Amino acid sequence: MTVATESTTHTDPDVAAEAARRRTFAVISHPDAGKSTLTEALALHAAAITSAGAVHGKGDRRGVTSDWMGMEQARGISITSAALRIDYGDCVLNLLDTPGHADFSEDTYRVLSAVDCAIMLLDSAKGLEPQTLKLFDVCRARRVPVITFVNKWDRPGREPLELLDEIEQRIGLRPTPLNWPVGIAGDFRGLIDRTDGCYTKLYRAPGGATRAREERLDAAQAAQMEGDEWTQAQEELELLGEIGADYDEPSFRAGESSPVLFGAALPNFGVSQLLQALVELAPAPADPVDAQGQVRPVGAPFAGQVFKMQANMDKNHRDRMAFVRIASGHFERGMVLTHARTGRPFATKYSQAVFGSERSTIDTAYPGDVIALVNANALSVGDTLYTGPTVQFAAIPSFAPEHFAVARARDASRYKQFQRGIAQLDAEGVVQVLTSDVRGEQAPVLAAVGPLQFDVVKHRMAEEFHAPVELSHLDYTLARRTDAASAPTAHGLSGAEVLTRRADNELLVLIHNKYRLRVIERDNPDLALEPLLAGGVA
Ligand code: G4P
Repeated sequence: MTVATESTTHTDPDVAAEAARRRTFAVISHPDAGKSTLTEALALHAAAITSAGAVHGKGDRRGVTSDWMGMEQARGISITSAALRIDYGDCVLNLLDTPGHADFSEDTYRVLSAVDCAIMLLDSAKGLEPQTLKLFDVCRARRVPVITFVNKWDRPGREPLELLDEIEQRIGLRPTPLNWPVGIAGDFRGLIDRTDGCYTKLYRAPGGATRAREERLDAAQAAQMEGDEWTQAQEELELLGEIGADYDEPSFRAGESSPVLFGAALPNFGVSQLLQALVELAPAPADPVDAQGQVRPVGAPFAGQVFKMQANMDKNHRDRMAFVRIASGHFERGMVLTHARTGRPFATKYSQAVFGSERSTIDTAYPGDVIALVNANALSVGDTLYTGPTVQFAAIPSFAPEHFAVARARDASRYKQFQRGIAQLDAEGVVQVLTSDVRGEQAPVLAAVGPLQFDVVKHRMAEEFHAPVELSHLDYTLARRTDAASAPTAHGLSGAEVLTRRADNELLVLIHNKYRLRVIERDNPDLALEPLLAGGVA
């Protein structure tokens, strides 16, 4: 990494101070672990909303949801991502919503490229579940610090020490509990703060709709009140002390250890402790580094990167929106930015803050904040926007696709709409679009991480672009990157096919399966066949 250039070292101390107040994070979890409930509880505690239920959006509770798309509602899964801003004390928390379904991990990956910290949410009865593991791998690959929240402690679950052991053994993340539960899962009495030994007794609020009542007690009072449960918790704490499971900032920041908190989002137990941990431990936005390795201080002029594109978020606002995480500088609505890829100006008259179907116009924003730019047809995922000295951030890596299908317009007379739709879905990163001279422009190959992405393509092509598509699945399961020198040899391989990825002109070789790959590698030792980012692990 080189030092900042002269031109970018001019920084605004007010902007740097605003950046220092920001905590930008995401919650990673398996579906049903309680992400929506926790989001709601965090917002409730921070008084960003007046009553619980306003964020959740499930059942008959409606409000700031991410269920804008008809299909998403029908499936009951969260396909898209948005950002929720929570003002808490002197801090601004930006919670980026991550889709929970495994098939949308590509989108999740991009969201995780825009956060400084992640909360790994575990169900106390289930521990680490498949989707959590996959998302954790993404965090590890990007060295995102992780705070662990063990949820649903009000229900029967596993032993706390056993859960910590599972985290350490299975993912190699050293757990350092910040608090400790008194009472087994299902009989949750309260939390001991490991820094001062004080006890917070928790009282369930009716319906969980308001903030749970908390009472601070000293050790003597707590011992008297909780009896054997208190003694057991003390014994467990001693054990933790002996194995040195104490919070350690350098290893947390390096993604090697994880502060752990216990609680229950539904009755709002332990949520204020989690908020406090976010404020005190989660890193504020750091000085970004551009594609050339130059550091641009957070206080430098405005620069941001598009990490997500979304179209047609709401039938009432038919538009295409770019979500930009601010990397440096002060954003003001109306600013004219430069689009680094094309060098063209981009006007920001209609910038917005968005969470689910709720929108509000945003006037000012700082590093760590997420702004949504409407009418963003020229923008693509990974693009940089800036003012002042030129800057371009490195591309956001895409996942290795494992599912492939040829797309054709059902109605040949709608070919123009077909082309426009495919190009847009490509730019949004809904699927990766591959082409070759052999197949021709009329029959692009769509590449996806999960097959559900194809359903999104079909739905949107028909509904939004009025160009229904026919998809024929291809019998490939692997993609490898190759280069121009290897391409002629790769073209002649059996059980494989060479295509160009439109987004970045990479040459990809699609291969039937790993056995075929092995044979190809054995017979062609000089052929360039580089693995792509698989499951978030570089
Ligand atoms: P998700 O977004 O991760 O998919 O999970 P969500 O918040 O929807 O929670 C999944 C289920 O777990 C919900 O129950 C929710 O009420 C419950 N839950 C979340 N946190 C806690 C907790 O701390 N304690 C307990 N006991 N339950 C919790 P549901 O019956 O599926 O939905 P709903 O009818 O309550 O909305």
